Amino acid sequence: MLQSHVVTISRFLIDAERKQPHATGAFTSLLSDIALAAKVIGREVNKAGLVDILGAAGDENVHGEQVQKLDVFANQVMFRALDHTGLVACMASEENETFIPIPDKFPAGDYVVIYDPLDGSSNIDVNVSIGTIFSIHKKITDGERGTLADCLQPGSRQVAAGYILYGSSTMMVYTTGAGVHGFTLDPSIGEFVLSHPLLRFPDPPKKVYSVNEAYYARWSRGQQRLVSHLKTDGGFGSRYIGSLVADMHRILLQGGLFMYPAETQNPQGKLRLLYEAAPMAMVIEQAGGRASNGIMDVMDIQPESLHQRIPLYMGSKDFVDLAEKMLAESP
Ligand code: AHG
Ligand code: MN
Ligand code: MN
Repeated sequence: MLQSHVVTISRFLIDAERKQPHATGAFTSLLSDIALAAKVIGREVNKAGLVDILGAAGDENVHGEQVQKLDVFANQVMFRALDHTGLVACMASEENETFIPIPDKFPAGDYVVIYDPLDGSSNIDVNVSIGTIFSIHKKITDGERGTLADCLQPGSRQVAAGYILYGSSTMMVYTTGAGVHGFTLDPSIGEFVLSHPLLRFPDPPKKVYSVNEAYYARWSRGQQRLVSHLKTDGGFGSRYIGSLVADMHRILLQGGLFMYPAETQNPQGKLRLLYEAAPMAMVIEQAGGRASNGIMDVMDIQPESLHQRIPLYMGSKDFVDLAEKMLAESP
């Protein structure tokens, strides 16, 4: 049956803009630019096995991690999709040690875009789902162009956040604070089409936890007790893909608990606040879930530095509540 009525992301954004009396269209344009970047990155991801884009670029990023060529490519695509738009005051990226000013030759705008251009890099060469994560703030400093201070805002001040999942299909999932919406790329028309309007965590949630148990010996006693409880009398199953975007997308659709705990070698865990935890937290809270560092809501954490790491407990509200409760019990 021919389907004449598809809601593309552009149509959805324009409809949403019309409901905002003071909308200028800048926000719509910004999210459309990110959707375009997603299509370009997705095209390379989907043919990564065909061209010599696999393998480490040989460099190491600020975290001392092997930088894969696709990380470099995705980082460039995100920057070039936004740098000339006149909508962005400055950017920040996992792959850039310092914040990214808008080149002088381009006008600056009101928005700050912070991104993980390619999440799940260790899965690139084995054809497992990877993603892109983005966080959008409004500039808060007075100058014409953005500064580091504009990047170091708590998650609660985000005006939008979302991710792209390059999986069996390419999906863009985002929120602007009015619910979470999922769009699936239709390659036959090259458009993201509304496929998951108003995504909400399922109730009851699936009892599945997601953590890398290889670090068990390095966890706190409370963390060890929590996972032991989940897998015994808690009756939980386990799934772990090793790409935050893929693990969290599954949990958003089915329910569950994602954990990346602190451990002796990484006392603040591995995942970064500004471009992994905070954007995911906005999506998760908008879908009725919770995101915590084990003690407090991720969205309330005031960032101190661009690449700051925090322990993460995200997913179905009752499961995050349970994690906080068990972690707080005496060691
Ligand atoms: P990135 O590729 O952007 O560095 O992110 C990888 C992260 C995240 O996607 C995932 O949840 C986590 O690394 C997996 O870490 P482990 O391999 O230590 O489990
Ligand atoms: Mn990542
Ligand atoms: Mn990354």
